Amino acid sequence: MGVVYFFLSFLAPVVLAYAFFVPTLRSLGELAGHYLRRSSRTRRELLLARVATEQKAYESSSKQSKEEDDWEEIERSAVGSAANGGKADKDWNGIVGFFHPFCNAGGGGERVLWGAIRATQKRWPEATCVVYTGDHDVDKDAILKRVKERFNIHLHPPTVHFLYLTTRHYVLSSTWPRFTLLGQSIGSLILGYDAFSLLVPDIFIDTMGYAFAVALCSLFFPNVPTGAYVHYPTISTDMLDSLDVGGKGVHTGQGAGYRGVAKRQYWSLFAKLYCVMGSCIDVVMTNSTWTQSHIKTLWGPYRNRRNSTTDHDIDVVFPPVAVEELERDVPVDEESEQKRGPALIYIAQFRPEKNHQVVLRAFASLLSSNPSFPEYPKETPKLVLIGSVRDPDDATRVYNLRLLAHELHIKEHVEFVCDATWPQMLDWMRRASIGVNSMWNEHFGIGVVEYQAAGLISVVNDSGGPKLDIVVPIDGKPTGFHASTSEEYAEGFRKALSLPRKERLAMRRRARKSANRFTDRGFAEKWIANMDQLILLQVARTKSSD
Ligand SMILES: *[C@@H]1O[C@H](CO)[C@@H](O)[C@H](O)[C@H]1NC(C)=O
Ligand SMILES: *[C@@H]1O[C@H](CO)[C@@H](O)[C@H](O)[C@H]1NC(C)=O
Ligand SMILES: *[C@@H]1O[C@H](CO)[C@@H](O)[C@H](O)[C@H]1NC(C)=O
Repeated sequence: MGVVYFFLSFLAPVVLAYAFFVPTLRSLGELAGHYLRRSSRTRRELLLARVATEQKAYESSSKQSKEEDDWEEIERSAVGSAANGGKADKDWNGIVGFFHPFCNAGGGGERVLWGAIRATQKRWPEATCVVYTGDHDVDKDAILKRVKERFNIHLHPPTVHFLYLTTRHYVLSSTWPRFTLLGQSIGSLILGYDAFSLLVPDIFIDTMGYAFAVALCSLFFPNVPTGAYVHYPTISTDMLDSLDVGGKGVHTGQGAGYRGVAKRQYWSLFAKLYCVMGSCIDVVMTNSTWTQSHIKTLWGPYRNRRNSTTDHDIDVVFPPVAVEELERDVPVDEESEQKRGPALIYIAQFRPEKNHQVVLRAFASLLSSNPSFPEYPKETPKLVLIGSVRDPDDATRVYNLRLLAHELHIKEHVEFVCDATWPQMLDWMRRASIGVNSMWNEHFGIGVVEYQAAGLISVVNDSGGPKLDIVVPIDGKPTGFHASTSEEYAEGFRKALSLPRKERLAMRRRARKSANRFTDRGFAEKWIANMDQLILLQVARTKSSD
């Protein structure tokens, strides 16, 4: 049994990988594609007929209550950046298939999916979006309702439809107790086949990281452009390195001995397969610079070798964060500037990795230098630590931090705000000048985006998402300061508090502009630019095959 399992889980992906290089296998693939296309033709026609009927019904029912449309601007501004300067037709009326087997999960990945569909609907109103999902227990109305409640995203019902996959269990890790990575990849091939036998889309986009399913699509249907939005690489270069004896993480030292050798072989075989699969995806987006650099390392060399239409860059499309409310509730202008004092806030749970001690020490070092800030002649700077206290451990940590503040003789200038309400936090964001974050290697850092949206000048650790993605120059000028040691933090505070009023306000405005990249609108604009490429490809390929 074990042997069969072993061969099964290795053979299928290897055959698929070879299929891209061996012409006979490739034409077999196309033959299969041809067959799938024919057998799903009726369903396609039915679907399009249903879209037309629903559209008519929707129009006649909503004539009197025409909702206002705030998206006109996007339609005008967002597009036209395609490689050849072209711009896809607004009336494009094909079918876009979104491969997202767990679409009702309600997490960050789903927010991206729904945001993407809404942007596509607004820009190409004639297009039909179908979602391949394995959530049998919920129907379309229930899903759309949940999307509205959970994410406040209103999809246009007539042009979004759901196709139900029956083979989702093959991608669960519990189905593949051993060789899980490869097993799940086979699972995604099966699931992909399931999807294409339901309907062959005109454009196929994976939003959950099933690169193998996308590869299957380009094998079966070379004319169908493919896209992928990658949150996280299935295998990362860190993972391969971690097998080394000196490495970090759960697999440390497992590279030793013959089991270790086998494991390394297995992982590097899988990494190769993953690279080959990834190289055939036409348009790749990643959710952060970190993911982009990993995907570039893995897929880049293979993509360049293939060098066909897949030669444009892997784009970073940041997932949307809800910052609009902050922009509305926290003013950033001449008048509000007078209400801000020399306060530093650090909004973070009281967890060890948030590294509050460093901030306290840095603040102590700032105060002990007896600074004078001409902008704030009468006030002494103040540090405000805002966070939730979830359990006794957190409470102990807060107690210890208070002790530390006492030892550092800064007790009178440090305030702890535990379990603050949202209005309290808003109040502090209006009154403070600086936002601090001292976590090392944070993947993203939504809190820092919130600082920016509130116009705070950020002083953040020189690592991870805050460094690479968030506190970056805007219009060529800084939006905050990076620091690694408590001395550098103190220096960052000093610089931020010494900025002359005009420059300070300019930096706040840049910070807010920076946060705009993470709004729904910022996401939609970038998504549309990438979608535009896919549609241009689709039109070109259809023409050339006629
Ligand atoms: C990208 O996705 C990964 C995995 O879901 C997540 O950990 C990371 O925070 C995401 N990055 C951004 C910028 O949201
Ligand atoms: C690869 O790219 C180069 C430059 O972009 C182009 O001249 C060449 O024809 C491409 N090769 C193939 C096989 O497409
Ligand atoms: C900040 O990041 C650096 C690496 O860039 C790390 O060495 C340092 O310990 C971090 N500092 C804090 C306060 O987390």
